Amino acid sequence: MCAKQVTKKAPGEVATTGHSWDGIEELNNPLPRWWVWVFWATIVWSLGYVIAYPAWPLVSGATQGILGKDAAGDSRLALDKDIAMFNEANAAVQKALVDTPLDAIPANQDLMNYAIPAGAAVFRTYCAQCHQSEGAGLAGKGYPSLKDNDWLWGGTLDDIYATVQHGIRNTTDADARYSQMPAFGTDELLDATQIGDVVQYVLQISGQEHDAAMATAGATVFAENCVACHGEAGMGDRAQGAPNLTDAIWLYGGDVASLTNTVTYARFGVMPAWGGRLSEDEIRAVALYVHSLGGGE
Ligand code: HEC
Ligand code: HEC
Repeated sequence: MCAKQVTKKAPGEVATTGHSWDGIEELNNPLPRWWVWVFWATIVWSLGYVIAYPAWPLVSGATQGILGKDAAGDSRLALDKDIAMFNEANAAVQKALVDTPLDAIPANQDLMNYAIPAGAAVFRTYCAQCHQSEGAGLAGKGYPSLKDNDWLWGGTLDDIYATVQHGIRNTTDADARYSQMPAFGTDELLDATQIGDVVQYVLQISGQEHDAAMATAGATVFAENCVACHGEAGMGDRAQGAPNLTDAIWLYGGDVASLTNTVTYARFGVMPAWGGRLSEDEIRAVALYVHSLGGGE
């Protein structure tokens, strides 16, 4: 049974809501005053907030609020002004960076003052995951150091610019730098003995401990199979991105196991092209930055 019958409150007695189920009555304890006031205050506050600050989502964006602030409370107008100011301030130097012949930029101190920090920022964002911050490279992993003066494809400003613009062995840029070392083992160009010998020869020309008899046999294998790319003396060929094998700088490792691996299966280091992804002034800035790291020619 439900009787809608509000019972009046006698002094010292709690009133009921008038709801009664099988004789059990619902008492009408009022909410504490302070709670009710806070409740109403939050509603009033929220109305004021919605009017003052960006609040209701719209199809694109949100209501802007009359104070001209962003959601964090910062002045939106000031922020817009700051961004516009920096864009405007940089526009001129970015244009000059693009309009000045690449080789003339290093002599222009104003352009360099902008380009080196800008290039460093581009590098940290787009290059450091493969080349390590500051260009040290992930040793032995196929990602070359960009700070030393050992270059696969060349270390002049123009060379670096072209490498960054078009990338290496990627399939997206028709002008990407390209070459491919044959997989002498898997393609059965050399047998295991010949590979063992030529590896000893590479150890010899790179100044490491080696088996003299095997290295002598390996010299013939090298002359017949490797000099076309790595050069007579194994000094490498930048036109083909073939590394110098006589220095102690290894892209994939200079121990017997790594060398045997390289000659058997070959390597195929790929770098994306940055033309189209970065703007021309960013590519120039990062090329200038890499060139300035210490190994630039
Ligand atoms: C996904 C990894 C990756 C990213 C990202 C990357 N690179 Fe590379 N980069 C490589 C690899 C791998 C090579 C070596 C390719 C080879 O074996 O010839 C290379 C080579 C280079 C070379 C040639 C070095 C030489 O000795 O000639 C330059 C210069 C270079 N990168 C600059 C950059 C710059 C600048 C960026 C950022 C805009 C960048 N790279 C981003 C992977 C990457
Ligand atoms: C068609 C050109 C070509 C020929 C022929 C060739 N190489 Fe290479 N070699 C390359 C290129 C290009 C690379 C770099 C690959 C990369 O960066 O991914 C390379 C890399 C290497 C490396 C790795 C060096 C490092 O720093 O880790 C070794 C070792 C090597 N070659 C040895 C040989 C030997 C030995 C032969 C002959 C049996 C040979 N190559 C024949 C083009 C060639």
